[in-house]
Amino acid sequence: MVHEMIGPSRERMLWHGVVEEYRSFLPITDKTPVITLGEGRTPLIHARELSSIKSADVYLKYEGANPTGSFKDRGMTLAISKAAEEGSQTVVCASTGNTSASAAAYAAKAGMTCVVLIPEGYIALGKLAQALIYGAKVLQIKGNFDQALQIVRELGDNSEKVTVVNSINPYRIEGQKTGAFEIIDTLGRVPDYHFIPVGNAGNITAYWKGYKEYFRDGISSSLPKMMGFQAAGAAPIVLGHVVEHPETIATAIRIGNPASWESAVKAKEESGGVISSVTDNEILEAYRFLAAKESVFCEPASAASVAGLLKTSVPPGSTVVCVLTGHGLKDPDAAISQISVPDAVDATYDAIAKELGI
Ligand code: F0G
Repeated sequence: MVHEMIGPSRERMLWHGVVEEYRSFLPITDKTPVITLGEGRTPLIHARELSSIKSADVYLKYEGANPTGSFKDRGMTLAISKAAEEGSQTVVCASTGNTSASAAAYAAKAGMTCVVLIPEGYIALGKLAQALIYGAKVLQIKGNFDQALQIVRELGDNSEKVTVVNSINPYRIEGQKTGAFEIIDTLGRVPDYHFIPVGNAGNITAYWKGYKEYFRDGISSSLPKMMGFQAAGAAPIVLGHVVEHPETIATAIRIGNPASWESAVKAKEESGGVISSVTDNEILEAYRFLAAKESVFCEPASAASVAGLLKTSVPPGSTVVCVLTGHGLKDPDAAISQISVPDAVDATYDAIAKELGI
C-alpha cells in the first residue's frame, strides 16, 4: 500500500548514503557492494551567535549526526565497500576512538572481523563502548596513537589478508571528500573560509580534495581558504617536527606524527590558509560556547575549529564553515568535567519549590 505523502516528497526524503549519492566522484563500479548505514547529509546549522561576534555568516557542519556519531563514517562506507569487493575478511585500524567505532560498525554490517588498536587510557568512554558493542576485537596498547598506527602499518605490510582502514587507505579520503560536496550543495556556494580540526590530517586533505574537484568540474567557481587547527600540546605541523609525547584534553587529536602531514601543508599552501594551534583552554571555551550559545553539543576535538575561528579575524560579511567532527555524547566525561552535577533533593513539591525560589 502506498501512503499519501503529507511531509516532504518521497524523493526529497530518500538518501542512500554518500557512496550512492556521489557515485560519479568515487572509485566504484557496478560490482562494488555498497556497505552503507545512510551516512552523510548532515546538518549545516547557521550559527547565530558566532555570526554576530564575527560579523560574518557562520555555519556549523555537524558531523556528529552521522550514524556512528562522527565524520569517519563518510570514509568508512567506501573503505569497507572496497574491502568487501576485494574479498577481504578482516579489517584493522589504529584509532583515538572514532575511527575504531566507525570501522567496527561498518565491518559488522559487511560481516567482517574488525581489529582495533587504541591507546590505553586515552580514548573517550562512548567510543570504547561503541567499538566493543559493534563486536570489534579491541586491543588497548600501552602506547599512543602514533605507535598504534606504526604497528597497524606493519600488520598491513605483512599480511595480504588484512585491510588497513586508517586514512592511509586512499578510499577513506575519497569518501570523506563528500563533506565538501555537501557543504557546496547545501549552501549553494563555496564558503570563503573552512575551519577544521587537524589530528592525523586526513580530513583537511579530504575536504580540500572535494573542494578542488567541484571547482575542476565547473560545479563551483571558487575555493575556500583552509584553516586547520591542532591542539597546542599536539601540534607537530605547526611546530615543524614530530611531537614524541603529544598531550591534550582533546584525545581525538592527540597525535604527534600525522600520516597526512604533507597533504595538509599542501592544502594550507594551495588555498592560502593556515595551520595553527589552539590551547586546551581555548578548546574547552569553544566547546562550552557551542553547547550553551548555539545548542550544538560536539566533542572537545571538534571545538578546535571554532576555537580557531574565535581567535582569527575574517573580513566582515565572509561566509564561514566550521566542521564539528564528532558528537558530544562520545565523551561524556569531558562534559561532566566542565559542569557541576547538582546534589539530589527530596522528592517533594516543597523541596523543589525551595530550590527554584518559588
Ligand atoms: N575530530 C575528531 C572527533 C576526530 O576523531 C579526529 C580524528 C579528528 C577531528 C581529526 O581528523 O585525523 O582526519 O585530522 N580521529 C582519528 C581517530 C585519528 O582515530 O578516530 P584527522
